Amino acid sequence: MKYNFLKHGVLATLFVTLSCNTTKQNIVPDTTKPAPQSIIDRKVDSILSLMTLEEKVGQMNQYNGFWDVTGPAPQNGAAAQKYEHLKKGWVGSMLNVRGVKDVKALQKIAVEETRLGIPLLFGYDVIHGYKTISPIPLAEAASWDMEAIKKSAEIGAAEAAASGLNWTFAPMVDVARDARWGRVMEGSGEDPYLGSQIAIARVHGFQGNFSEFNLAACAKHFAGYAFAESGRDYNTVDISDNTLHNIILPPFKAAADAGALTFMNSFNELEGIPATGNAYLQRDILKGEWNFDGFVVSDWGSMAEMINHGYAKDLKQAAQHAANAGSDMDMESYGYVKHLADLVREGKVDEAKVNDAARRILKVKFQLGLFDNPYKYCDENREKQTIGKKAFHDGVLDMAKKSIVLLKNENNILPLKKQGQKVAVIGALANDKTSPLGSWRIGADDGTAISVMEGLKQYNGNELVYAKGADVALGNPEFTLNTKINMTDKSGFAEAVNAAKGADVVIMILGEHGLQTGEGRSRSEIGLPGVQQELLEVVYKANPNIVLVLNNGRPLTIPWAAENIPAIVEAWHLGTQSGNAIAQVLYGDHNPSGKLPMSFPRNVGQVPIYYNHKNTGRPTEEGPESVFWSHYTDVHNSPLYPFGYGLSYSTFEYSNLKISTDKLTAGGNITVSVDVKNTSNTDGKEVVQLYLHDLFASVTRPVRELKGFELTPIKAGQTKTVTFTIDEKTIAFYTANKKWEAEAGDFKVYVGGSSDAALESNFTYTK
Ligand code: NOJ
Repeated sequence: MKYNFLKHGVLATLFVTLSCNTTKQNIVPDTTKPAPQSIIDRKVDSILSLMTLEEKVGQMNQYNGFWDVTGPAPQNGAAAQKYEHLKKGWVGSMLNVRGVKDVKALQKIAVEETRLGIPLLFGYDVIHGYKTISPIPLAEAASWDMEAIKKSAEIGAAEAAASGLNWTFAPMVDVARDARWGRVMEGSGEDPYLGSQIAIARVHGFQGNFSEFNLAACAKHFAGYAFAESGRDYNTVDISDNTLHNIILPPFKAAADAGALTFMNSFNELEGIPATGNAYLQRDILKGEWNFDGFVVSDWGSMAEMINHGYAKDLKQAAQHAANAGSDMDMESYGYVKHLADLVREGKVDEAKVNDAARRILKVKFQLGLFDNPYKYCDENREKQTIGKKAFHDGVLDMAKKSIVLLKNENNILPLKKQGQKVAVIGALANDKTSPLGSWRIGADDGTAISVMEGLKQYNGNELVYAKGADVALGNPEFTLNTKINMTDKSGFAEAVNAAKGADVVIMILGEHGLQTGEGRSRSEIGLPGVQQELLEVVYKANPNIVLVLNNGRPLTIPWAAENIPAIVEAWHLGTQSGNAIAQVLYGDHNPSGKLPMSFPRNVGQVPIYYNHKNTGRPTEEGPESVFWSHYTDVHNSPLYPFGYGLSYSTFEYSNLKISTDKLTAGGNITVSVDVKNTSNTDGKEVVQLYLHDLFASVTRPVRELKGFELTPIKAGQTKTVTFTIDEKTIAFYTANKKWEAEAGDFKVYVGGSSDAALESNFTYTK
């Protein structure tokens, strides 16, 4: 069904004519003229030509949801003003309006009451699911399973799209090295290569083929946001161009190349210029060098925040900087709607910039099919039938199991026996049905996750005893969902000790509450919050046969546990099906294969710690008394658990690393192969990883860089040969010439099951 939302008959006719002309041109190409614009571009131009300056600026304005939209229209105050703007066609997009009924009500105003009837975009933070919640993105990254990650994004998109939404503010592709930063939970960890693969999987998963089950994706936060000094959210960022290009930008580039329709800029400054007003990032790199033809939305209020940064004297100047730098849509700063038309009239912003921004936004609306059917996402029946579908629960359960990382398993204490055991389960998180949903799951309802206890109860051959022991305790009692949570209460310890004493095995579910990570949730200490560490040690004295299951949204410092506790399972915040996934792994119905996407530090003083660091001029100890080398006097340089690390109930042996030739030449390639044997009696999966070290270059290079990986099933006793190809693209980097290129030189190759991979070879590249 076609919606005749454009009241200008002229426009409708124009569309038809344009389509016909283009078809003719395709039959008889006229090579003397520039290539024809795509039909969408021409339709966009035709709309633009009808728009007033204010209407074009309106497309660049995004408002947060503002009133009970299915009730009476607001009469005064800020909501009334937003409503008026909506009717005038001065709003291009809304965020945080969801549910078919509400979305439809607002879309109706845009389509039926404004002069041109241009449909709205409806954006929402669908970060790891909408109602049915999948693991936090950092956990998903631990799966190294691109198909599963894509599927998870598809599920989130299908549910959100059924609820009227057409745009997600995801994926977050910020490479993050500082576990104090609360938003590490929202990304793919510390590695640009893994992060790029995941960016592609998520963009494809969300966007699909732009059907009514898909959403427009938004790669964020462009750029450098995760490098906030000392891990404090929103803090100053001061990084080199080298780090920007070699570490931070690759996942963004991958998202752009994968077709992400939108980007979001960020709260931080870069080289003293806030990202929202940063032309180098948005205009030169993104829209220039990368030829990105989607649009850039600001982060919430980030335009106005340029005043606090000390980069704009007032909102008007902030709007001027943002527009001139290529920030196309203003999320909740009111800078464009208030000042941009005047700035154009005063000659401070070229109208061409406004045209370009409006054009980009209209184009996305066309790509989503909103001009064909502005109510494409507004089907109440579909909404009812789609949300919470069984297939989605199965999907997020599968993702959750794949996200779990086995960190330690001494004496094969895991998997647990299914019969005749007395099992003590300790920790407030074991019984929590909200925390597993994690941070950034604003569409989900509290209490909808399967708790660990519920998951464990599915296995009824054992006797379960539960004791809370202690609350999780939130790091900052000022901020919080529950200020009453006690930081010091040990009154539950005795009960926990008793439960442990009589048990064959103790499962302790400890870590962070789901809302202890995420935006604005930076921590300066990243151990187990509150009295949980003490609880762990007290219970250990009563019964050391402990399986520690961590729930957390960031790497934690757990050196004591790593040394003393026989089994440690990293179970993150796994979403709606969390308890089932954990139980299935503990009982061996799923063999874990996850690998850490971020290094775990030994203590917070090591942070930022990441495997792909530089060598420094003094990398090694020169003797037992040696002092003047790059190290700490009180802790090792190495992390507690390195990037790429994770165990399985199977064991794998790597051998026979072969390189097809040790000479890579221009235009050529070499292959690296390795044999991986499953030396256990259990079928399993292993993430085989390839790392390179570029030994000398025009700018210094990391000691190791992930350049390939393969998640491969290997049956008990079976040996698999895994092969990687290396070519000039693999070794290219952002050089001293300020461009991506391969430089002649010597390289080391490492292959193994973590960034510590021991098998090595080498090759030389000549141009
Ligand atoms: C601020 C966050 O930084 C961003 O990631 C999010 O998409 C917006 N708020 C909208 O909720």
